[in-house]
Amino acid sequence: MEKDQILKKLRDLREKDPKFSDGRIISSVSTEPLDFAVEAFNIFSDTNALDVNIFPEVQKLEREIIDWFGTALKNPEIDGYVTTGGTEANIAALFVAKKLNPGRREILVPESAHYSIKRAAELMDLEIKWIKLDENFRADITDLESKISKDTLAVVATAGTSSLGVVDPIEEINSLCKDIFFHVDAAFGGFVLPFMENAPCIDFSLENIDSITIDPHKMGMNLIPAGAILFRDKSYLERIKVSPPYLSFSTSTISGSRSGGAIASVWATINYLGFDGYQKIVQDCLKNTEFLCNEIEKLDGVELVRKPDINVVGIRIKDMGPVSAELIKRGWDIMPDLESGSARVVVMPHVTETVIKNLVSDLKDILA
Ligand SMILES: Cc1ncc(COP(=O)(O)O)c(C=O)c1O
Repeated sequence: MEKDQILKKLRDLREKDPKFSDGRIISSVSTEPLDFAVEAFNIFSDTNALDVNIFPEVQKLEREIIDWFGTALKNPEIDGYVTTGGTEANIAALFVAKKLNPGRREILVPESAHYSIKRAAELMDLEIKWIKLDENFRADITDLESKISKDTLAVVATAGTSSLGVVDPIEEINSLCKDIFFHVDAAFGGFVLPFMENAPCIDFSLENIDSITIDPHKMGMNLIPAGAILFRDKSYLERIKVSPPYLSFSTSTISGSRSGGAIASVWATINYLGFDGYQKIVQDCLKNTEFLCNEIEKLDGVELVRKPDINVVGIRIKDMGPVSAELIKRGWDIMPDLESGSARVVVMPHVTETVIKNLVSDLKDILA
């Protein structure tokens, strides 16, 4: 095939899938990345972050990213790296925990945790003790406390769960984890809570947090693939360091080759937006979240699953099956959980007031 033909074919195929700007994507934790981030990616698209001997500038950019997170999450000693996403970051955290304490194999995990935690447990032959949720869908602290034992390797909490955006009681869990590895999965909430007024604390100022997952490719406005795993200090990554004989350096990442483009784009995005930029994005998303909640409360046959902690809204719809089928027919990407009769709306920056008005108008129409 000729290059032109190939590109045309790809452009035609891309047209078939929706774009964030179409105003119909309401369940995704991704959003349209800044154009500028794509440009930054392209400048470094031929680099491999693994090859620090060949591309030392990529390593410097990555260090600056980690230091930026150190400021956002209140820890100048922070260490970590840019991952492919939250899944790799969660795996890396539990891998380090296991290396720190090889004799223990139980991890305490709230039922609402992202499935990557279960995946990590399977990979490392760890046993999950599931923690019940309380009536507000948070990890039940009493249940958690009762399940801590001498075999407890790690406790996982989520700052912004995948289905409802719930922030687990992280301060209370922190106080139970004096001698236990404590991992906070803030893949989604990590770019929300630190930029929000009166938000619960999820950062390293809580003295027992060992690691935090935070994803630039979710609310960080970056393109995929860009997650991050952060550790309290430099000693953690030492535990998973390998020095392959054919390389002149060691590495502590789960992935081998890593995209230097992804690192450049994260660096560009955080430096361009800065703390003020993220604060503004979060404020707008929260304003639209409130608008959506108010509109939902006015509708018959639809209710909020709970008052949202952040910009993820669980809505319960009467007759979810047929209603969601009709919404999908009209182009909405709703993902119904038919068991609970609910679905999530993630109020990302592309889910504007106009998008919400269109959604509510379609809902009204269908329910009528
Ligand atoms: C709380 C949480 N953790 C981890 C992940 C996994 O992230 P990724 O899809 O980037 O691997 C997600 C994805 O939505 C998530 O919501």
